Amino acid sequence: MNTFDTLTINPPILYFGTPVVLITTRNEDGSANITPMSSAWSLADRVVIGLSGGGQGLTNLLRERECVLNLAAESMHAAVERIAPTSGRHPLPTWKHEAGYRHEADKFALAGLHACPSIKVTAPRIAECPLQLESRMTHYVDRPLDDWHDTAGGFAIIELEVLHVHAHADVVVPGTQHIDPSSYAPLFYLFRHYVGRGETLGKTFKAQV
Ligand SMILES: Cc1cc2nc3c(=O)[nH]c(=O)nc-3n(C[C@H](O)[C@H](O)[C@H](O)COP(=O)(O)O)c2cc1C
Repeated sequence: MNTFDTLTINPPILYFGTPVVLITTRNEDGSANITPMSSAWSLADRVVIGLSGGGQGLTNLLRERECVLNLAAESMHAAVERIAPTSGRHPLPTWKHEAGYRHEADKFALAGLHACPSIKVTAPRIAECPLQLESRMTHYVDRPLDDWHDTAGGFAIIELEVLHVHAHADVVVPGTQHIDPSSYAPLFYLFRHYVGRGETLGKTFKAQV
């Protein structure tokens, strides 16, 4: 077989290595929910995310129009996986229950993570996350297959404006506004496996640090 030979495949998911984001949102009763997710990319002060229908985080985000995007560190993979099979939604949609999920009202306690207050949004930040982006929703597009709020398959693509960036002091280049790529170690999701950042291979001509 030649190195560049290809196969035509139909993979069930396309998580090609995106950061693990823990989205915090405010529930209707004032408590907080954590939604682990990885369909996220950024440009300028905007982050675009994708969320499946039927989740509590999506319901909260569409109601409150704000959230915090907490970027998980690679050291947090076990905490993330503790809350992975759970949902803040009660009762759970049938398809989600059948997929092995259970309801969890307090994901902070289950994960062993700590909430701290935000400045511009009502949802709390996650203290352990090295980057915490307070954000508000600017647009969303839903892709229903049926009634996407309750049926597996539907999803929403949401554009968020980042209002305030909190960064752990040890990932900031001292005296600058820059994240230090040598100390920032995000957690990535690679076809449903957790991976770390690995070694630095080089930098682009536009790098400022
Ligand atoms: C690492 C990781 C990445 C995930 N990525 C996404 C994603 O990008 N979009 C999504 O809708 N669900 C994603 N999920 C699944 C949600 O976390 C799951 O549906 C969860 O029940 C949502 O919680 P909630 O109902 O309390 O919001 C991911 C889960 C894990 C553990």
